[in-house]
Amino acid sequence: MALQSTNPTTTKAWSDLQSHFSELKDVHLKELFKNNSKRAEELTVIWDDFYVDFSKNRITKKTISLLTDLAKELHLKDAISKYFDGDIINKTEGRAVLHTALRAPESAEVFVGGENVIPGVFAVKEKIKDFTNSITSGIHRGFTGKQITDVVNIGIGGSDLGPAMVVDSLKFYKNHLSTYFVSNVDGDHYQEIVKNLNPETTLFVIVSKTFTTQETLSNANSIRDWFLQTLPKEAIANHFVAVSTNIESVKAFGIDEANIFPMKDWVGGRFSLWSAVGLSISLALGYDNFENLLSGAHKMDEHFRTSDFKENIPVIGALLTVWYNNFFEAESEAIIPYTQYLNQFATYLQQGIMESNGKRVDRDGKPVNYQTGTLIWGEPGTNSQHAFFQLIHQGTKLIPTDFIGYVKSLHGNKDHHNKLMSNYFAQTEALMNGKTEDEVLEELGNASEEQKQMLLPFKIFEGNKPTTSILIQKLTPESLGKLIAMYEHKIFVQGIIWNIFSYDQFGVELGKKLAKTILEDLNSSVIHNPHDTSTQSLIEFFKK
Ligand code: F6P
Repeated sequence: MALQSTNPTTTKAWSDLQSHFSELKDVHLKELFKNNSKRAEELTVIWDDFYVDFSKNRITKKTISLLTDLAKELHLKDAISKYFDGDIINKTEGRAVLHTALRAPESAEVFVGGENVIPGVFAVKEKIKDFTNSITSGIHRGFTGKQITDVVNIGIGGSDLGPAMVVDSLKFYKNHLSTYFVSNVDGDHYQEIVKNLNPETTLFVIVSKTFTTQETLSNANSIRDWFLQTLPKEAIANHFVAVSTNIESVKAFGIDEANIFPMKDWVGGRFSLWSAVGLSISLALGYDNFENLLSGAHKMDEHFRTSDFKENIPVIGALLTVWYNNFFEAESEAIIPYTQYLNQFATYLQQGIMESNGKRVDRDGKPVNYQTGTLIWGEPGTNSQHAFFQLIHQGTKLIPTDFIGYVKSLHGNKDHHNKLMSNYFAQTEALMNGKTEDEVLEELGNASEEQKQMLLPFKIFEGNKPTTSILIQKLTPESLGKLIAMYEHKIFVQGIIWNIFSYDQFGVELGKKLAKTILEDLNSSVIHNPHDTSTQSLIEFFKK
């Protein structure tokens, strides 16, 4: 059954939230803490190895109540069942959205078109496991009998960002294989990678759900040409494997059917790292770690599916985005991991969140009259503190920020970890409290009165900047699986509230189509296709 369609701004909860917003919008977080000694406790959710403190947000318990009323009025519970049960919730592409089935236990039953998909999921997992073990143990060898030492993932978007982010985030757990990711159609990308590789000891994993993506096919073709400069065609079977739904096109590329890892159309590209798209994760970290990643995600799925909305981490997180986006008119959200390992996390989430919820028409096909998807950005702390935190502290924009950190470090150097985490805690405190006039004056101590008055406005921080503190015991494959799944479910909930379809991406199609036309013009002696005068001049200048 289809998702229901209601303009959120027409609900009773929305107008209640509007009145509540007028009461709360000018209240300082410091005031809220002063008035309620139990605030931190009341607005923190402790689940498994996650401690999520929402109390430094510009909310009260009433806000959570009204936001969850909104979710109920918009039938979130019913939507969650449809999501997990394999209903065609990606209506515009006529598909189910079942990344959750990829991490479900073997005993689960999830039906698509009358067929339980779980046995198929486990068959592919078995194939990933066997292949991973044969590569890491050295049973599967290159064409000349040498062991595989390097793995190159060739893909883009969801066929690159997820595996690349996970492999980088979990490199502490890596095995002996070196892993590389080629995505950009810019020839420098693949050339810089292959120039140091030996084709005899390298495995190439071509990942493309559609197997039609220009960047991936160009890189795969150029890399195959490079490979064939050293080894014969028969060697392709030992060195090239593919992940795709498009088996025929993969075979046409020259890859043996036995070397194809299939995926299903009910796995969206940006949610696909749990599928065979995660093959390079399994190769880089070993199959058991891949399995632990999946099992962490499944635990978060269960938390999301079964917890009361008021105790539900992804639901509260999503509703807070709505609160800031639609009431405070905040335009962006920052995601700041206090671990260098999660260096690529915000980049990965940019696709997940912005490709999903960057939509301007509702589920009835009508333009929305409210804001939808937020801008996502971020870099690890503490580096980001020395880069863009100034704007979050003293700029004119409200930027709700997620702080992600770990109780235990992987490196074991207490001095470094305490310094890192003291910055995490200090930043959330500073963003909330700011610095008052009295504090500035005290800090200026013996300066002249004239100097004090001159400096005062620049040194005041108004504070009242919202943050959510996500504190996890330790960075492991399992806890990373939970964290990624948490954001995936946030995306889903936001889409339900905003009454949009989160699982298509027609917005990226137009540019791809035009690039094909322009490529024809670049490759021919004359420009055949009509262009606006600006584009025409640019092409002419480029061709000259
Ligand atoms: O950028 C659009 C997109 O379709 C993404 O959603 C997808 O992850 C990416 O291109 C790659 O697609 P494919 O896996 O089919 O090559």
